[in-house]
Amino acid sequence: MIVLGIETSCDETAAAVVDGEGRILAEAVQSQTDEHQPFGGIVPEIAARAHLAQIDRLVTTTMSKAGVSYGELAGVAATAGPGLIGGVLVGLMTAKAISAVHRLPLLAVNHLEGHALTARLTDKVEFPYLLLLVSGGHCQLLAVEGVGRYHRLGTTVDDAAGEAFDKIAKMLGLGYPGGPAIERAAKSGDAKRFDFPRPLKGKPGCDFSFSGLKTAVRQAAEALPPGALQDSDVNDLAASFQTALVDSIADRVKRAVDIFRNAYPAGTTLVASGGVAANSALRAALSATASRASMTLVAPPIALCTDNAVMIAWAGIERLKLGLIDGLDFKARPRWPLDPTAPKATGAGIKA
Ligand code: KG4
Ligand code: ZN
Repeated sequence: MIVLGIETSCDETAAAVVDGEGRILAEAVQSQTDEHQPFGGIVPEIAARAHLAQIDRLVTTTMSKAGVSYGELAGVAATAGPGLIGGVLVGLMTAKAISAVHRLPLLAVNHLEGHALTARLTDKVEFPYLLLLVSGGHCQLLAVEGVGRYHRLGTTVDDAAGEAFDKIAKMLGLGYPGGPAIERAAKSGDAKRFDFPRPLKGKPGCDFSFSGLKTAVRQAAEALPPGALQDSDVNDLAASFQTALVDSIADRVKRAVDIFRNAYPAGTTLVASGGVAANSALRAALSATASRASMTLVAPPIALCTDNAVMIAWAGIERLKLGLIDGLDFKARPRWPLDPTAPKATGAGIKA
């Protein structure tokens, strides 16, 4: 069962060919970092145009690297949301065209389900498992019961974790994308110099909040002597910020672990996915949290944690195995929650 996957929902244009056993026959990721760098963040219009400029070449070269003809494919999967709608349309329309021309089943994949199911490709994790999905656009804790079956335990009431990394990096002049830059700066910084708040730590529920932490970092930076921040200041701010954020996330995960272990006694795996799961301080904290609860942490390799098309092909394969095929009339969805029944987050413990 060989499937072509396409990902264009954010600032990575990606294509991959994966088989039913989870073997990656070929993959390519074309990042748009250079296009967005001057703006310190992603510009949706630029992203959509860049996807359009790259997608055909990327699909063609990935297919030929895989040594697979379109006739040998069992289906074509593309991210159909959530994400920046212009980009999503580019990938989804490309997949629809391939599907129509070669008469292949179309698999309209939820980008978040791609992140959520990656650990089944890399580590053959069985359902149910507890998932921490931390990316530039999302910060959620979900009980994953099966393909298409998610129960949300917590989400962010303001920024996503990656967004907090990106905004702090921009504020400190560390550039974009912020997560890796903060992690690098933090390595040579003193995490104890600034005692930043740990949002929601100790509060009931599993929701997240990062905007108060962001404000505290800005105020600390502004309180330093006027003029350019010294490298050591930046490193210390980055290290103190990262430590506070990781601490806050670990507290929320600990609560989710308790709820999950009660509700799903058979589930013993904590999966961390999404771009921020590439952060090694976060990985270390999650690993400690998991082992205290006799759970195992599974964090896919970094290249499969950040946006890629392997995860989209794989989610397509999982859906195809269950006969979940989509029509060519499937509409791209800028918003597409994994658990549509989840109540709006208010962040128990802070004012809504
Ligand atoms: O999953 P992803 O590639 O794209 C989205 O779907 O959002 O996540 C990108 C986010 C960015 O905010 C980036 O700054 C963050 O993941 N990120 C990191 C690290 N690598 C990427 N955050 C913290 N530490 C990292 N090493
Ligand atoms: Zn993502």
